[in-house]
Amino acid sequence: MDYVIEAHHISRSFGDVRAVDNIDLQISRGEIYGFLGPNGSGKSTTIRMLTGLLTPSEGSISVLGLNLPKQAEALRTRIGYMTQKFSLFEDLTVLENLKFIAQIYGISGKNKKQRLETQIDTYGLAQNRKQMAGTLSGGQKQRLALAAATVHQPELLFLDEPTSAVDPENRREFWEKLFDLSDQGTSILVSTHYMDEAERCHQLAILEEGQKRVDGSPEELMSNMGANVLEVAGPGLRQVKQTLVSLPEVLSAAQLGTRLRVLVSDRVDNPIEWITQRLPEENQGNLQRVRPSLEDVFVSCTGVNKR
Ligand SMILES: Nc1ncnc2c1ncn2[C@@H]1O[C@H](COP(=O)(O)OP(=O)(O)OP(=O)(O)O)[C@@H](O)[C@H]1O
Ligand SMILES: [Mg+2]
Repeated sequence: MDYVIEAHHISRSFGDVRAVDNIDLQISRGEIYGFLGPNGSGKSTTIRMLTGLLTPSEGSISVLGLNLPKQAEALRTRIGYMTQKFSLFEDLTVLENLKFIAQIYGISGKNKKQRLETQIDTYGLAQNRKQMAGTLSGGQKQRLALAAATVHQPELLFLDEPTSAVDPENRREFWEKLFDLSDQGTSILVSTHYMDEAERCHQLAILEEGQKRVDGSPEELMSNMGANVLEVAGPGLRQVKQTLVSLPEVLSAAQLGTRLRVLVSDRVDNPIEWITQRLPEENQGNLQRVRPSLEDVFVSCTGVNKR
């Protein structure tokens, strides 16, 4: 298998905080690989180690065949990295920012002009080329940051929560660009805390408290979840929820509008019958089994259940 990233047992501590705790990763070439995890789960710390910017406390890392952090310098021009916080110059224009980045990567002459025009065009920034980066909208800023991170056509792209300040429509467009890059052969590692975004990835890992809880394709994760998903409707759902979450077989129960979404461990043989016996009479006819979502996977493998 051709892996662009291989990490074995990597950990990183800051004082007493174990930000990343014994993570293993194998990421194949050409893939869009996602890190899904809540605030503080170690996404940024892991990404920083994989880019060679941060030294792991333990473990080994190979990225594009280079050993990190030892060969980090050789890796620098072969990867692109879009940091979580907007890191371009707010008081330079769009074009000036791109020129500056191109210079850093040693792109020059006619080549450079052409490359910048392509980026401006690809990322829909033609009308903003003379605008100060600081005055761009959230979506435009992210497009500029992506244009900057790909100016040197890296084989591997790291994107740390690239769409956290972007509305759903712009997020969709942003993802279309990622699929274009993927289609052209770029491997992509992207972190997010949005389920819908994670669902678009070819493969993903769910992180919590610095640990990898599960990994696989979204479909695999949903079918191997270890729980059945049922929805209950009818009156008194707050009370029904209290009753159900107190049962050890119920992994979680959360209300979605007029329905209560319940995850029942697959140790229970016939979940419909099992749960019917535990519901008040007026809810018993209002029960159906539904397809799992990635959110169900997330809830079933992290500590957010039963809250
Ligand atoms: N330089 C640092 N010094 C001390 N603690 C740090 C440092 N960097 C990260 N941490 C801690 O490590 C843990 C993981 O942080 P990290 O930024 O990797 O999480 P994250 O998943 O990227 O979170 P978010 O979604 O909020 O960006 C947190 O508890 C954080 O406070
Ligand atoms: Mg982060």
